[in-house]
Amino acid sequence: MQQKTGSITRRNLGRLAGGLAATTLAAPALAQGGGALRVGLMLPFSGTFAALGENIAAAVDLHLQERGGKMGGRAIEIIRLDDESNPANAVQNVNRLLGRDKAEVLIGTVHSGVVMALVQASRERGVPLIIPNAGNVAATRSLCARTVFRSSFSNWQPAYGMGLALGKQGVKRAVWVTWDYAAGSESGEGFRDGLKAGGAELVKELKLPFPETNFQPLLAQIPDLKVDVVGAFFAGGGAVQFVRDYAASGLKDKIPLCGSGFLTEGTLGGQGAAAEGIRTALHYGDGLDNPKNKTFRDAFKQKTGREADVYAVQGYDAAQMLGIGLDGAKGDPAAEAAWAGAIEKARIDSPRGAFTLSPSHNPVQNIYLREAKGGQNVVIGIAAEALADPGTGCKMS
Ligand code: PHB
Repeated sequence: MQQKTGSITRRNLGRLAGGLAATTLAAPALAQGGGALRVGLMLPFSGTFAALGENIAAAVDLHLQERGGKMGGRAIEIIRLDDESNPANAVQNVNRLLGRDKAEVLIGTVHSGVVMALVQASRERGVPLIIPNAGNVAATRSLCARTVFRSSFSNWQPAYGMGLALGKQGVKRAVWVTWDYAAGSESGEGFRDGLKAGGAELVKELKLPFPETNFQPLLAQIPDLKVDVVGAFFAGGGAVQFVRDYAASGLKDKIPLCGSGFLTEGTLGGQGAAAEGIRTALHYGDGLDNPKNKTFRDAFKQKTGREADVYAVQGYDAAQMLGIGLDGAKGDPAAEAAWAGAIEKARIDSPRGAFTLSPSHNPVQNIYLREAKGGQNVVIGIAAEALADPGTGCKMS
Protein backbone atom coordinates (compact mmCIF):
# COMPACT_ATOMS: atom_id res chain seq x y z
CA MET A 1 0.00 0.00 0.00
CA GLN A 2 1.18 3.43 -0.85
CA GLN A 3 1.31 4.68 2.77
CA LYS A 4 4.42 2.58 3.33
CA THR A 5 6.45 4.42 0.74
CA GLY A 6 5.32 8.04 1.21
CA SER A 7 6.50 10.31 4.00
CA ILE A 8 4.11 10.53 6.92
CA THR A 9 2.33 13.81 6.31
CA ARG A 10 -0.91 14.70 8.04
CA ARG A 11 -2.78 13.55 4.97
CA ASN A 12 -0.98 10.22 4.71
CA LEU A 13 -1.55 9.62 8.39
CA GLY A 14 -5.23 10.34 7.89
CA ARG A 15 -5.34 7.97 4.95
CA LEU A 16 -3.69 5.29 7.03
CA ALA A 17 -6.15 5.80 9.86
CA GLY A 18 -9.05 5.74 7.41
CA GLY A 19 -7.67 2.60 5.80
CA LEU A 20 -7.31 0.87 9.15
CA ALA A 21 -10.80 1.82 10.19
CA ALA A 22 -12.10 0.23 7.02
CA THR A 23 -9.78 -2.75 7.03
CA THR A 24 -10.88 -5.66 4.93
CA LEU A 25 -8.87 -8.15 2.96
CA ALA A 26 -10.61 -7.22 -0.25
CA ALA A 27 -10.04 -3.47 -0.28
CA PRO A 28 -6.36 -3.28 -1.35
CA ALA A 29 -6.84 -6.01 -3.95
CA LEU A 30 -9.80 -4.16 -5.40
CA ALA A 31 -7.92 -0.86 -5.55
CA GLN A 32 -5.10 -2.42 -7.53
CA GLY A 33 -6.97 -5.04 -9.46
CA GLY A 34 -9.35 -2.85 -11.43
CA GLY A 35 -12.59 -4.03 -9.76
CA ALA A 36 -15.62 -1.78 -9.37
CA LEU A 37 -14.77 1.63 -7.99
CA ARG A 38 -17.04 2.55 -5.11
CA VAL A 39 -18.36 6.12 -5.22
CA GLY A 40 -20.14 7.41 -2.11
CA LEU A 41 -23.00 9.70 -3.13
CA MET A 42 -24.09 11.67 -0.07
CA LEU A 43 -27.19 13.80 -0.68
CA PRO A 44 -30.48 14.77 0.94
CA PHE A 45 -33.22 12.36 -0.17
CA SER A 46 -35.59 13.60 2.54
CA GLY A 47 -36.43 17.00 4.05
CA THR A 48 -36.72 20.44 2.42
CA PHE A 49 -33.90 19.70 -0.08
CA ALA A 50 -35.07 16.18 -1.09
CA ALA A 51 -36.00 17.14 -4.66
CA LEU A 52 -32.56 18.72 -5.11
CA GLY A 53 -30.81 15.51 -4.06
CA GLU A 54 -33.02 13.39 -6.30
CA ASN A 55 -32.21 15.47 -9.38
CA ILE A 56 -28.48 15.46 -8.66
CA ALA A 57 -28.48 11.67 -8.20
CA ALA A 58 -30.54 11.04 -11.35
CA ALA A 59 -28.19 13.16 -13.44
CA VAL A 60 -25.12 11.38 -12.03
CA ASP A 61 -26.75 8.13 -13.14
CA LEU A 62 -27.56 9.61 -16.54
CA HIS A 63 -23.94 10.44 -17.29
CA LEU A 64 -22.74 7.13 -15.95
CA GLN A 65 -25.16 5.39 -18.33
CA GLU A 66 -23.83 7.48 -21.21
CA ARG A 67 -20.40 6.11 -20.36
CA GLY A 68 -21.60 2.52 -20.22
CA GLY A 69 -21.14 2.45 -16.44
CA LYS A 70 -17.34 2.83 -16.69
CA MET A 71 -14.77 5.52 -15.95
CA GLY A 72 -11.00 5.26 -16.17
CA GLY A 73 -11.47 1.69 -17.40
CA ARG A 74 -13.32 0.61 -14.23
CA ALA A 75 -16.93 -0.19 -13.51
CA ILE A 76 -18.44 2.41 -11.18
CA GLU A 77 -20.63 1.43 -8.26
CA ILE A 78 -22.67 4.24 -6.70
CA ILE A 79 -23.52 3.97 -3.01
CA ARG A 80 -26.24 6.40 -1.95
CA LEU A 81 -26.63 7.84 1.52
CA ASP A 82 -29.42 10.19 2.66
CA ASP A 83 -27.82 12.95 4.78
CA GLU A 84 -31.20 14.63 5.46
CA SER A 85 -29.42 18.02 5.27
CA ASN A 86 -28.66 17.46 8.94
CA PRO A 87 -25.25 18.84 10.01
CA ALA A 88 -25.46 17.00 13.35
CA ASN A 89 -25.12 13.61 11.61
CA ALA A 90 -22.68 14.69 8.90
CA VAL A 91 -19.42 13.31 10.31
CA GLN A 92 -21.04 9.98 11.16
CA ASN A 93 -22.53 9.73 7.67
CA VAL A 94 -19.20 10.42 5.96
CA ASN A 95 -17.47 7.86 8.18
CA ARG A 96 -20.14 5.33 7.25
CA LEU A 97 -19.46 5.82 3.54
CA LEU A 98 -15.69 5.61 3.94
CA GLY A 99 -15.76 2.83 6.55
CA ARG A 100 -18.65 0.42 6.22
CA ASP A 101 -19.23 1.14 2.52
CA LYS A 102 -15.54 1.44 1.56
CA ALA A 103 -16.11 4.39 -0.77
CA GLU A 104 -12.91 5.51 -2.55
CA VAL A 105 -14.41 8.68 -4.02
CA LEU A 106 -17.05 11.03 -2.62
CA ILE A 107 -19.71 13.12 -4.33
CA GLY A 108 -21.79 15.36 -2.02
CA THR A 109 -23.74 17.29 -0.92
CA VAL A 110 -26.44 20.01 -1.07
CA HIS A 111 -26.30 21.72 2.36
CA SER A 112 -23.44 24.10 3.19
CA GLY A 113 -23.20 22.94 6.81
CA VAL A 114 -23.20 19.24 5.98
CA VAL A 115 -20.57 19.58 3.24
CA MET A 116 -17.91 20.59 5.76
CA ALA A 117 -17.65 16.99 7.02
CA LEU A 118 -16.96 15.86 3.45
CA VAL A 119 -14.36 18.58 2.91
CA GLN A 120 -12.63 17.67 6.15
CA ALA A 121 -12.54 13.97 5.24
CA SER A 122 -11.16 14.77 1.80
CA ARG A 123 -8.45 17.02 3.23
CA GLU A 124 -7.41 14.60 5.94
CA ARG A 125 -7.62 11.33 4.02
CA GLY A 126 -6.89 12.46 0.47
CA VAL A 127 -10.18 11.01 -0.81
CA PRO A 128 -11.32 12.77 -4.01
CA LEU A 129 -14.41 14.92 -3.39
CA ILE A 130 -16.67 16.58 -5.95
CA ILE A 131 -19.30 18.92 -4.51
CA PRO A 132 -22.43 18.94 -6.74
CA ASN A 133 -24.19 21.82 -4.98
CA ALA A 134 -23.27 23.15 -1.51
CA GLY A 135 -21.86 26.64 -1.95
CA ASN A 136 -19.99 27.03 1.35
CA VAL A 137 -17.25 29.47 0.41
CA ALA A 138 -14.66 27.88 2.72
CA ALA A 139 -14.57 24.77 0.50
CA THR A 140 -12.90 26.78 -2.26
CA ARG A 141 -11.36 29.53 -0.14
CA SER A 142 -9.66 28.95 3.25
CA LEU A 143 -10.20 25.15 3.18
CA CYS A 144 -9.45 24.62 -0.49
CA ALA A 145 -7.47 21.48 -1.30
CA ARG A 146 -6.06 19.65 -4.31
CA THR A 147 -8.58 16.85 -3.68
CA VAL A 148 -11.70 19.07 -3.42
CA PHE A 149 -13.59 20.21 -6.54
CA ARG A 150 -16.94 21.87 -7.04
CA SER A 151 -19.24 21.46 -10.07
CA SER A 152 -21.73 24.04 -8.82
CA PHE A 153 -21.08 27.57 -7.47
CA SER A 154 -19.90 29.41 -4.37
CA ASN A 155 -22.72 30.96 -2.34
CA TRP A 156 -21.22 34.33 -3.19
CA GLN A 157 -21.47 33.99 -7.00
CA PRO A 158 -25.20 34.07 -7.92
CA ALA A 159 -26.09 36.62 -5.23
CA TYR A 160 -23.25 38.89 -6.33
CA GLY A 161 -24.66 38.81 -9.88
CA MET A 162 -28.13 39.67 -8.60
CA GLY A 163 -26.91 42.61 -6.52
CA LEU A 164 -24.78 43.95 -9.37
CA ALA A 165 -27.68 43.79 -11.85
CA LEU A 166 -29.98 45.62 -9.41
CA GLY A 167 -27.45 48.36 -8.74
CA LYS A 168 -26.99 48.91 -12.47
CA GLN A 169 -30.76 49.18 -12.85
CA GLY A 170 -30.83 52.07 -10.38
CA VAL A 171 -31.98 50.28 -7.22
CA LYS A 172 -30.71 52.08 -4.11
CA ARG A 173 -31.87 50.13 -1.05
CA ALA A 174 -32.39 46.39 -0.60
CA VAL A 175 -32.97 43.81 2.20
CA TRP A 176 -31.84 40.14 2.23
CA VAL A 177 -34.17 37.51 3.69
CA THR A 178 -32.81 34.03 4.34
CA TRP A 179 -32.16 31.04 6.57
CA ASP A 180 -29.60 31.58 9.28
CA TYR A 181 -26.79 29.28 8.15
CA ALA A 182 -23.69 29.47 5.94
CA ALA A 183 -25.52 29.54 2.60
CA GLY A 184 -27.84 32.30 3.77
CA SER A 185 -25.19 34.57 5.22
CA GLU A 186 -22.60 33.96 2.49
CA SER A 187 -25.12 34.68 -0.25
CA GLY A 188 -26.03 37.80 1.74
CA GLU A 189 -22.36 38.84 1.51
CA GLY A 190 -22.41 38.31 -2.24
CA PHE A 191 -25.60 40.33 -2.57
CA ARG A 192 -24.08 43.13 -0.48
CA ASP A 193 -20.87 43.16 -2.56
CA GLY A 194 -22.81 43.15 -5.83
CA LEU A 195 -25.13 45.94 -4.74
CA LYS A 196 -22.15 48.00 -3.61
CA ALA A 197 -20.33 47.49 -6.92
CA GLY A 198 -23.52 48.70 -8.64
CA GLY A 199 -23.88 51.75 -6.36
CA ALA A 200 -26.64 50.37 -4.08
CA GLU A 201 -26.89 49.42 -0.41
CA LEU A 202 -27.96 46.39 1.62
CA VAL A 203 -29.81 47.94 4.57
CA LYS A 204 -30.66 44.80 6.57
CA GLU A 205 -30.64 41.01 6.69
CA LEU A 206 -33.68 39.18 8.07
CA LYS A 207 -33.11 35.55 9.11
CA LEU A 208 -34.87 32.52 10.53
CA PRO A 209 -33.41 29.14 11.52
CA PHE A 210 -32.95 26.44 8.82
CA PRO A 211 -35.25 24.79 7.70
CA GLU A 212 -38.11 26.72 9.36
CA THR A 213 -40.84 28.30 7.22
CA ASN A 214 -42.58 30.64 9.65
CA PHE A 215 -41.92 33.68 7.45
CA GLN A 216 -44.66 36.00 8.74
CA PRO A 217 -42.61 37.74 11.47
CA LEU A 218 -39.93 38.58 8.87
CA LEU A 219 -42.37 39.70 6.19
CA ALA A 220 -44.04 42.00 8.72
CA GLN A 221 -40.79 43.96 9.14
CA ILE A 222 -40.31 44.72 5.45
CA PRO A 223 -42.66 47.70 4.84
CA ASP A 224 -40.88 49.88 7.42
CA LEU A 225 -37.48 49.34 5.80
CA LYS A 226 -38.34 51.52 2.80
CA VAL A 227 -36.47 49.29 0.37
CA ASP A 228 -36.77 49.26 -3.44
CA VAL A 229 -36.41 45.50 -3.65
CA VAL A 230 -36.40 42.36 -1.47
CA GLY A 231 -33.69 39.78 -2.16
CA ALA A 232 -33.83 36.22 -0.80
CA PHE A 233 -31.97 32.95 -0.55
CA PHE A 234 -34.26 29.97 -0.03
CA ALA A 235 -34.34 26.68 -1.93
CA GLY A 236 -36.42 23.54 -2.34
CA GLY A 237 -39.57 23.19 -0.25
CA GLY A 238 -38.73 26.31 1.78
CA ALA A 239 -38.51 28.41 -1.41
CA VAL A 240 -41.93 27.20 -2.59
CA GLN A 241 -43.44 28.33 0.70
CA PHE A 242 -41.59 31.67 0.86
CA VAL A 243 -42.61 32.78 -2.62
CA ARG A 244 -46.23 31.85 -1.92
CA ASP A 245 -46.23 33.62 1.45
CA TYR A 246 -44.62 36.73 -0.07
CA ALA A 247 -47.42 37.00 -2.62
CA ALA A 248 -50.14 36.17 -0.07
CA SER A 249 -48.87 38.94 2.25
CA GLY A 250 -49.65 41.50 -0.45
CA LEU A 251 -45.99 42.59 -0.71
CA LYS A 252 -45.51 41.24 -4.25
CA ASP A 253 -47.44 44.13 -5.81
CA LYS A 254 -45.54 46.74 -3.80
CA ILE A 255 -41.88 45.65 -3.63
CA PRO A 256 -40.35 43.33 -6.26
CA LEU A 257 -38.92 40.05 -4.94
CA CYS A 258 -35.64 38.74 -6.38
CA GLY A 259 -32.81 36.50 -5.29
CA SER A 260 -30.24 33.82 -5.97
CA GLY A 261 -31.84 31.69 -8.67
CA PHE A 262 -32.49 28.81 -6.25
CA LEU A 263 -35.57 30.76 -5.14
CA THR A 264 -37.39 29.71 -8.32
CA GLU A 265 -35.35 26.66 -9.37
CA GLY A 266 -37.22 23.37 -9.60
CA THR A 267 -40.02 25.07 -7.64
CA LEU A 268 -42.15 26.90 -10.20
CA GLY A 269 -44.79 24.16 -10.34
CA GLY A 270 -45.41 24.51 -6.62
CA GLN A 271 -45.25 28.32 -6.66
CA GLY A 272 -47.66 28.91 -9.54
CA ALA A 273 -48.78 32.50 -10.13
CA ALA A 274 -46.95 33.66 -6.98
CA ALA A 275 -43.64 33.27 -8.85
CA GLU A 276 -44.65 35.06 -12.04
CA GLY A 277 -42.25 37.89 -12.88
CA ILE A 278 -39.68 37.15 -10.14
CA ARG A 279 -36.17 37.96 -11.31
CA THR A 280 -33.25 35.91 -10.10
CA ALA A 281 -29.60 35.34 -10.96
CA LEU A 282 -28.03 31.94 -11.49
CA HIS A 283 -25.42 30.03 -13.52
CA TYR A 284 -28.22 28.31 -15.45
CA GLY A 285 -31.56 29.02 -17.13
CA ASP A 286 -34.12 26.62 -18.60
CA GLY A 287 -33.96 27.76 -22.20
CA LEU A 288 -30.21 28.32 -22.55
CA ASP A 289 -29.64 27.97 -26.24
CA ASN A 290 -26.76 25.58 -26.73
CA PRO A 291 -26.79 22.06 -28.20
CA LYS A 292 -25.52 20.41 -25.01
CA ASN A 293 -28.38 21.88 -22.98
CA LYS A 294 -30.97 20.65 -25.42
CA THR A 295 -29.60 17.09 -25.54
CA PHE A 296 -29.21 17.04 -21.78
CA ARG A 297 -32.73 18.29 -21.06
CA ASP A 298 -34.26 15.76 -23.44
CA ALA A 299 -32.27 12.88 -21.94
CA PHE A 300 -33.07 13.93 -18.36
CA LYS A 301 -36.76 14.24 -19.16
CA GLN A 302 -36.78 10.85 -20.78
CA LYS A 303 -35.02 9.24 -17.83
CA THR A 304 -36.98 10.85 -15.00
CA GLY A 305 -40.17 12.30 -16.47
CA ARG A 306 -39.12 15.62 -14.90
CA GLU A 307 -37.77 18.85 -16.34
CA ALA A 308 -34.05 19.40 -15.68
CA ASP A 309 -32.97 22.20 -13.36
CA VAL A 310 -29.68 23.58 -12.06
CA TYR A 311 -29.33 20.69 -9.59
CA ALA A 312 -29.58 18.14 -12.40
CA VAL A 313 -26.96 20.12 -14.35
CA GLN A 314 -24.59 20.18 -11.38
CA GLY A 315 -25.02 16.44 -10.80
CA TYR A 316 -24.36 15.73 -14.47
CA ASP A 317 -21.25 17.90 -14.42
CA ALA A 318 -19.99 16.32 -11.18
CA ALA A 319 -20.17 12.96 -12.98
CA GLN A 320 -18.42 14.45 -16.03
CA MET A 321 -15.63 15.77 -13.79
CA LEU A 322 -15.32 12.39 -12.08
CA GLY A 323 -14.99 10.74 -15.48
CA ILE A 324 -12.35 13.22 -16.64
CA GLY A 325 -10.38 12.73 -13.41
CA LEU A 326 -10.56 8.94 -13.43
CA ASP A 327 -9.67 8.75 -17.11
CA GLY A 328 -6.62 10.91 -16.37
CA ALA A 329 -5.64 8.65 -13.46
CA LYS A 330 -6.40 5.38 -15.31
CA GLY A 331 -8.99 4.51 -12.70
CA ASP A 332 -6.79 4.96 -9.63
CA PRO A 333 -8.34 7.50 -7.23
CA ALA A 334 -5.14 7.46 -5.13
CA ALA A 335 -3.17 8.95 -8.07
CA GLU A 336 -3.97 12.45 -6.85
CA ALA A 337 -1.74 14.48 -9.18
CA ALA A 338 -3.08 12.64 -12.23
CA TRP A 339 -6.81 12.94 -11.54
CA ALA A 340 -6.71 16.41 -10.01
CA GLY A 341 -4.45 17.63 -12.83
CA ALA A 342 -6.86 16.30 -15.45
CA ILE A 343 -9.83 18.16 -13.96
CA GLU A 344 -7.80 21.34 -13.43
CA LYS A 345 -6.92 21.42 -17.12
CA ALA A 346 -10.40 20.48 -18.38
CA ARG A 347 -13.01 22.55 -20.15
CA ILE A 348 -16.24 20.95 -19.00
CA ASP A 349 -18.92 20.70 -21.67
CA SER A 350 -21.82 21.66 -19.41
CA PRO A 351 -25.49 22.29 -20.27
CA ARG A 352 -24.92 25.72 -18.66
CA GLY A 353 -22.22 26.41 -21.29
CA ALA A 354 -18.64 25.16 -21.15
CA PHE A 355 -16.71 26.15 -18.04
CA THR A 356 -13.25 25.82 -16.51
CA LEU A 357 -12.25 25.72 -12.87
CA SER A 358 -10.63 28.60 -11.01
CA PRO A 359 -7.30 28.02 -9.22
CA SER A 360 -9.30 27.14 -6.09
CA HIS A 361 -11.40 24.53 -8.05
CA ASN A 362 -14.68 26.46 -8.33
CA PRO A 363 -16.43 26.96 -11.70
CA VAL A 364 -15.75 30.19 -13.60
CA GLN A 365 -19.15 30.85 -15.13
CA ASN A 366 -21.69 33.30 -16.45
CA ILE A 367 -24.34 34.35 -13.96
CA TYR A 368 -27.56 34.75 -15.95
CA LEU A 369 -30.40 37.11 -15.15
CA ARG A 370 -33.68 35.21 -15.40
CA GLU A 371 -37.36 36.00 -15.12
CA ALA A 372 -40.02 33.48 -14.11
CA LYS A 373 -42.56 33.34 -16.93
CA GLY A 374 -45.26 30.70 -17.39
CA GLY A 375 -43.43 28.04 -15.38
CA GLN A 376 -39.96 28.67 -16.85
CA ASN A 377 -36.92 30.59 -15.69
CA VAL A 378 -36.35 32.52 -18.90
CA VAL A 379 -32.88 33.99 -19.46
CA ILE A 380 -33.19 37.75 -20.06
CA GLY A 381 -29.54 38.76 -19.84
CA ILE A 382 -26.15 38.17 -18.26
CA ALA A 383 -25.76 39.60 -14.75
CA ALA A 384 -22.03 38.84 -14.53
CA GLU A 385 -19.89 37.32 -17.27
CA ALA A 386 -17.31 34.59 -16.55
CA LEU A 387 -17.55 35.26 -12.83
CA ALA A 388 -14.98 33.56 -10.58
CA ASP A 389 -15.26 33.35 -6.82
CA PRO A 390 -12.41 35.44 -5.36
CA GLY A 391 -10.97 32.30 -3.72
CA THR A 392 -9.71 34.43 -0.84
CA GLY A 393 -7.33 32.60 1.49
CA CYS A 394 -6.93 29.51 -0.70
CA LYS A 395 -3.45 27.99 -0.41
CA MET A 396 -3.49 24.89 -2.55
CA SER A 397 -1.48 22.08 -0.89
C1 PHB B 1 -26.32 25.37 0.42
O1 PHB B 1 -26.62 25.02 1.59
O2 PHB B 1 -25.16 25.64 0.09
C2 PHB B 1 -27.38 25.43 -0.62
C3 PHB B 1 -28.53 24.69 -0.50
C4 PHB B 1 -29.49 24.74 -1.50
C5 PHB B 1 -29.28 25.53 -2.61
C6 PHB B 1 -28.14 26.30 -2.74
C7 PHB B 1 -27.17 26.25 -1.74
O3 PHB B 1 -30.20 25.56 -3.58
